[in-house]
Amino acid sequence: MAQLLHSDTGELLSLFKQTRETTIKLFKPLNIEDAVIQSDTFGSPPNWHIAHVTWFFHKVLEKHGHKIKEQDGHGINLSYLNSYYQRYGNILPKSERGRFPRPTVQQTLEYRKLVDEAVSSFLKSRGLTISPEVDYDITLGIQHEMQHQELMVYDFQYYFQRFPDPKDNYRPEVMESPPLPHPQPQPRPLSPALQKPAGMARIPGGIYTLGFGNGAKAGEDDRKRKKIGFCYDNELPEHKVYLQPYKIDVAPVTNGDFAKFVEAGGYQEYKYWLADGWELVEENGWNAPLYWHKKGKRWIKKDFRGLREIDPDEPVVNVSFYEADAYARWAGKRLPTEAEWEKAASWNEDLQKKTPYPWGDSKPTARHANLMESWIWSPTKVGSYPEGKSYYGCHQMIGDVWEWTSSEYVLYPGFLSRFPEYTDKWAVNQKVLRGGCFATPRGQIRNSYRNYFKPHERIVFAGFRCAKD
Ligand SMILES: [Fe+2]
Repeated sequence: MAQLLHSDTGELLSLFKQTRETTIKLFKPLNIEDAVIQSDTFGSPPNWHIAHVTWFFHKVLEKHGHKIKEQDGHGINLSYLNSYYQRYGNILPKSERGRFPRPTVQQTLEYRKLVDEAVSSFLKSRGLTISPEVDYDITLGIQHEMQHQELMVYDFQYYFQRFPDPKDNYRPEVMESPPLPHPQPQPRPLSPALQKPAGMARIPGGIYTLGFGNGAKAGEDDRKRKKIGFCYDNELPEHKVYLQPYKIDVAPVTNGDFAKFVEAGGYQEYKYWLADGWELVEENGWNAPLYWHKKGKRWIKKDFRGLREIDPDEPVVNVSFYEADAYARWAGKRLPTEAEWEKAASWNEDLQKKTPYPWGDSKPTARHANLMESWIWSPTKVGSYPEGKSYYGCHQMIGDVWEWTSSEYVLYPGFLSRFPEYTDKWAVNQKVLRGGCFATPRGQIRNSYRNYFKPHERIVFAGFRCAKD
């Protein structure tokens, strides 16, 4: 029998409310003019995001026979809010979202309230215990909303950097300082925590069990899964793969590292690039990561922390798969496969088991990783989270920047869909990314989480680390 993800209705309801509040916290600083703009066709208007996630809960309620009636007054054209689910009827093409700013912001907020109340009364009507199916579907709605929180932050970055005025920026409700101060001027020695992790970890080859779980034997699975919590269907089933021995960088590639590739003419040399990537370089005039601008001899960029010089010690971010791949070739390395990445993050040789996070079994906190609720709003210097490193000594595998892998996004052998059209229809022409970024909610990420984007995408807060045979 499937296990419940939450011990009772109250726990699920409180997670629901908390997630809904966080979305509003992200949305609130926007002016109405900014809330309805689609920053580009790959993104969506913030107002659309917060209405669409509400529509998703609406559909979950309908699936379980709980109707939201028209006379309750939402009066909204729901086909505007359907992202891509063919089974739910009409879909407004994604590229049109900015041209149809409906529902209005006011209507969206009313619709959210209506659905909040409906979810609440639906769950309460179930009493203390809920079925595994309701538990899963509501949790899926919560996880889906968290995904959109992160997508919204990509859109904020893309949109606000277009205004040259540094003060004309997204103003987060909370902004915390990065965990480490900038290194003091010499000769004061760097404290141990400030020493930059460098080099590569050696990982033995052999059979590795890829996917969500901990490689436990059948029968143990459910109990252990319950302890870890939710996972998407595309992280299952766990299955064995064979790995050759390999090395993997102990830290993500930094801006300083990447600038060397730029300055060495990496963007001008065909030999480093895959053919499709080279076409994009030529067509779009790519000569540095997205958002980098040259000012004299320095690279600057506008992000949530202001208009600032590129910090050489932060992981590089907003590069496409092609740029990551070209850098790796230039450096005499390659990108890791997703299995190599996951083993470096998960496997503990002493315990002979996988852990859900690089540091072990405990949920992420501000001490482990730079995720959304740290509210730092940018990557942090490599070495900032010594407590978060993996058994093999790899830093910042969770948080800061998503990491491109060389793996195609395909469904694992034996895949079973738990919510059709969510993860299953997209398993072609996309690359897997692992580890989450500074805008990923803590409740969203774990070692086995598989994100996927087209290889040319640069708006994702993605960087990479390299591997070597
Ligand atoms: Fe969605």
